Amino acid sequence: MEIKDKVVLITGASGGIGLAAARHLAAAGAKVALAARSTEKLTQLANELRSQGHEALSVPTDMRNQAEVIQMVEATVQHFGQIDVLINNAGQAASGTITDVSIDDYRQIVELNMFGPLYAMQAVIPKMRSQGGGIIVNVSSMVSRMHIPGLAAYASTKAALNMLSDTARGELASDNIRVITFYPRMTATDFGRNSLGNRQMRQQQRATTNRPEVVVDSPESVAEKILEAVQKEPAEQFMDS
Ligand SMILES: NC(=O)c1ccc[n+]([C@@H]2O[C@H](COP(=O)([O-])OP(=O)(O)OC[C@H]3O[C@@H](n4cnc5c(N)ncnc54)[C@H](OP(=O)(O)O)[C@@H]3O)[C@@H](O)[C@H]2O)c1
Repeated sequence: MEIKDKVVLITGASGGIGLAAARHLAAAGAKVALAARSTEKLTQLANELRSQGHEALSVPTDMRNQAEVIQMVEATVQHFGQIDVLINNAGQAASGTITDVSIDDYRQIVELNMFGPLYAMQAVIPKMRSQGGGIIVNVSSMVSRMHIPGLAAYASTKAALNMLSDTARGELASDNIRVITFYPRMTATDFGRNSLGNRQMRQQQRATTNRPEVVVDSPESVAEKILEAVQKEPAEQFMDS
């Protein structure tokens, strides 16, 4: 898809990958709707983008709340008149082994990483159908294809998202709605700090990932890949492909 003048709704836009994607896509000519819970950060980002001549809308949303997600999509369409791209990026991890992972933490990330993107897809699909098509990018994780001790809860939510995403691709192909599963690897954001769960295990994981041989991407390079995915519309997008 040619991105110029397209309306892109980005969840998790208040920080990390989502914030970098909002800046990068706006610079490429997209009109951006920015969703997350931190209203102030979204307002600041929307103001920054507008001051650079871009069109930006802040839509504060808790992605675990279906009514708020529906409202997020309605507000975007009301403001811009359409919605061309949904980037389901908001997400969080929870650390803990199978023996001790907190069920409450797990439930929270199931709500955010699985139901959140599903609520958003269900809300945008009718809009995209009536416009004749669109693109949905579901931000998964490479860990959904690995077996890392202490990360099963998080990895399983992203593995479930992969299935939702890959199945939606077939279901929506005849509506000209392209569904892309996007696989970031380790990225330098506050993601680790924002993770729920076992603190000691999170520190151990950080120590492991701080080793020089571990590749860590910048959020800006991930944002570039997201833009590339929207432009080229592959079924799956990896950082090294
Ligand atoms: N960083 C990595 O190493 C890495 C690797 C692979 C995949 N990923 C995936 O990439 C995506 C972005 O991660 P990141 O690294 O940018 O993490 P991050 O820096 O922690 O940012 C997470 C974003 O999600 C938002 N968010 C969290 N809970 C939310 C909720 N209930 N409702 C709405 N928004 C919510 C946060 O905003 P608020 O707090 O303002 O709501 C924030 O904007 C996630 O899906 C993550 O799983 C990250």
